[in-house]
Amino acid sequence: MRKRIKAVAVCVGIALTAPASAQEELNFDAYREMLADGNPAELYEMEGEELWRTARGPKNATLEQCDLGLGAGVVAGAAAQLPRYFEDAGRVQDLETRLMYCMDTLQGIPSKEIIDGKFLQGERARLAALVAYVVTHSKGEKIAVDLSHPKVKEMYELGERTFYYRLGVMDFSCASCHSQDGKRIRATQLPNITTREGAAEGWGSWPAYRVSSSQFWTMQHRLWDCFRQQRAAEPIFGSDVIIALSTFMAGKGNGIEAKWPGVKR
Ligand code: HEC
Repeated sequence: MRKRIKAVAVCVGIALTAPASAQEELNFDAYREMLADGNPAELYEMEGEELWRTARGPKNATLEQCDLGLGAGVVAGAAAQLPRYFEDAGRVQDLETRLMYCMDTLQGIPSKEIIDGKFLQGERARLAALVAYVVTHSKGEKIAVDLSHPKVKEMYELGERTFYYRLGVMDFSCASCHSQDGKRIRATQLPNITTREGAAEGWGSWPAYRVSSSQFWTMQHRLWDCFRQQRAAEPIFGSDVIIALSTFMAGKGNGIEAKWPGVKR
């Protein structure tokens, strides 16, 4: 068993440092060209806009009264200032947990259905489309998370500690894969999240349309997959550990323009 773990660690080590092959670079260029005409995330954005305006759930209500932090119904610029502390919910929320809260309180769609659900399915998939809609209205905005708020600051610090916390069979932390410049796994450049630019890159390019799988992934989905890569326990959707890591990345990237919605390999 020990041997096997070691072998896996060595494999990952190689994967982390090996340069992308010419073939993979080529493929990625082809993807980029293919996407030059438009980001398929637009389709999700359109679906999200419709969901925002459609009366749904046991309360048969729209989300037009949802307060994303800038007042009821204000979507423009809202994503750039998240995560933030919400008095009504009594916690720091990212865009996904805030939308989940609005769906629950305004429409009567139980959060549990989303928390217990699966990515790309059911209400969690609809939530992702709503995310696409909201972030598109922060296109070109600078990341502006209010770290002067004590609750947000607390989350930032928890996120920073989590980022460096080693766990799992391979004893990896987020920093094991995300604290060096120029690190890549195959054709993917891994941002150095310990720098301001890298944090902004990591935070500000998700949610994104993934060309490799033709799927739209939110940040909760992205981080869930990194926990998996870290061989750590699966995080609960919308739990504080994800919000903390998000607050850390967003807060560190403050002042840099986000690239929402992203396009990724
Ligand atoms: C074993 C290595 C590994 C670990 C540990 C890891 N990640 Fe990742 N991370 C990756 C890889 C690989 C990608 C790119 C995946 C892809 O594009 O298919 C990535 C992508 C990301 C991205 C998106 C970056 C971008 O510019 O697209 C973020 C943000 C991120 N990881 C955060 C984290 C956080 C936070 C943790 C700790 C919970 C973590 N990662 C742990 C390997 C890792």
